[in-house]
Amino acid sequence: MDRLFQDSVQRKPFSLNGQWLIKYDRQNQGHSGGYQTGRMSFDDEIYVPSCWNFQIGRYDYTGPAWYCKKFSTDQTKNSRFIFDSVSGQATVYLDGAELGGHYGSYTRFQFDVPSLKPGEHTLVVRVDNTVNDVDTMPLKFVDWYVYGGIYRPVKLEQFDDVSIDRIHITTEWRKLNVNKVTVKTVVKNWTHSPYSDEFELYIDSQKTLQQKVTIPALSTQEVVFELEDFKPQLWDTESPKLYSFQVKCRSDDLIERSGFRKIETSGRKILLNGREIFIKGVNRHNDNPELGYAINGPLIQRDMQIIKDLGANAIRGSHYPNDPLVLDYCDQMGFLFWEEIPFWNHPAESLASPVLETRARLAMREMIERDFNHPSIIFWSIQNESKSSSQEGLALFSKLASDIRMMDSSRLVTFASACGKNDICFNLVDVICWNTYPGWYDDDEPLDSLDTRFTQILLSNRQWLDEQKQDKPYIISEFGASALLGVTTFDEGRRWTENYQQKLLTKAIKALVESKTVQGFFIWQFCDGRTALNRKVSIGRPRTFNNKGLVDEHRNPKLAYYSVRDMLRDIPTYA
Ligand code: GCU
Repeated sequence: MDRLFQDSVQRKPFSLNGQWLIKYDRQNQGHSGGYQTGRMSFDDEIYVPSCWNFQIGRYDYTGPAWYCKKFSTDQTKNSRFIFDSVSGQATVYLDGAELGGHYGSYTRFQFDVPSLKPGEHTLVVRVDNTVNDVDTMPLKFVDWYVYGGIYRPVKLEQFDDVSIDRIHITTEWRKLNVNKVTVKTVVKNWTHSPYSDEFELYIDSQKTLQQKVTIPALSTQEVVFELEDFKPQLWDTESPKLYSFQVKCRSDDLIERSGFRKIETSGRKILLNGREIFIKGVNRHNDNPELGYAINGPLIQRDMQIIKDLGANAIRGSHYPNDPLVLDYCDQMGFLFWEEIPFWNHPAESLASPVLETRARLAMREMIERDFNHPSIIFWSIQNESKSSSQEGLALFSKLASDIRMMDSSRLVTFASACGKNDICFNLVDVICWNTYPGWYDDDEPLDSLDTRFTQILLSNRQWLDEQKQDKPYIISEFGASALLGVTTFDEGRRWTENYQQKLLTKAIKALVESKTVQGFFIWQFCDGRTALNRKVSIGRPRTFNNKGLVDEHRNPKLAYYSVRDMLRDIPTYA
């Protein structure tokens, strides 16, 4: 993965980014046409990483496409092909032979090829971003653009005998003190003979522990370092202290970065390192009008700065696992992060699908495995606005909630509900979150009374939660209104104007803070984002964009940005 820090000293990864060839396969003839060999004619060259939608004439292409890249190596080496993200269903072939497949548009996957011979090789990837109405993530009906392509970096890593595949850092606390830190690595022996070596742990380049380990031939083994007297400075939003952990042996090394903070609930409070916090966040799609999902480092960095200037302390990665760079910036800048898998308005019949269950549980596992060490992540979210008022939802979301707790007991479990008082899944979560749109979707009442109306809604919801014995924190995970940049008016009651959005948001935030009913909120949304092609959604989306951003898709601020900024800056993070 491209990270903001050096993730290895010894490795010399071979980037497979750059010019590939692409053949669009609307009639799905590739398999019968032998496309996996890469010997077919091609439509175009395409840069990887990118979304094919930005190729001339391919804006609305949805379906299979075949990518091909020729490359050469000069030695026989154990080889690992790493794809940071490919949209939808990917199938990977090397020199005509299938290496395997992967479903899921937002998480990393890899294929190992022991003893890859030197010479020219042909890498072919079939990418299919088709979505349907039952078992894809997301479904066809969705409020963001389902781009297609190999849209995050691809690289080849080569190893002589072992590879250090993962570093997983867990912390045991005694009240607010770090009692023990466990650095667990997974090491793969690619060779046909046992591998014995000293494995060393360095923290911030200081050698800390070492141990002699023998890994049996052709096997994978955990190597665990226990730190009993490591007393780190804690990570928090004001001083986001990070440490680097390097595990090395004579033939490989891997570096991870992490920070130490405790996130928990106490009744209706959310505590960060024992201090009650109030979340003032924005929802952010990882999208850009010229790059789509392939939004790059400098543009991500600019977003983070704008959100910091806004006075926000949290970001919800709506609605899918984010680019690792986003998470690295959140770690560095002290943002709290909510990460989720791309469940979006999945109806009950879809939630009953065994295929969807498999895909959802894989996406959750891959997201948590990939992002486990980021201190900024405090929420793992199961779903967004899917039918959590149905038995099918309860059945599937129960499995996902227990999957999360099995993999990571250190973070808070939640989801964003649109079922409100009909929701039957709130027992599964640590924090209850509702999406609600007073003054936009929910009513036609005049804006002037929005703060009192919203306050009534919040009080009523909190009372209902109390009646349901849900003595947990309560967050409004979405609220907002659309505004077209440049459309202003003296008549603040006119929807779609910057003035209407500005007034709605300021009144809503006033209600959220003064009602003393919530432990935070996430504004919908940071920036305007491209919506899906299907008319059911886009008919309500001028310019085919969701226009609820505080800034437009080019990050040009609307009136609301400034008013919200003035308010957020005065809302303290810590009680
Ligand atoms: C929903 C949904 C968002 C969507 C937003 C809107 O709550 O979660 O993804 O874009 O509302 O309609 O603007």
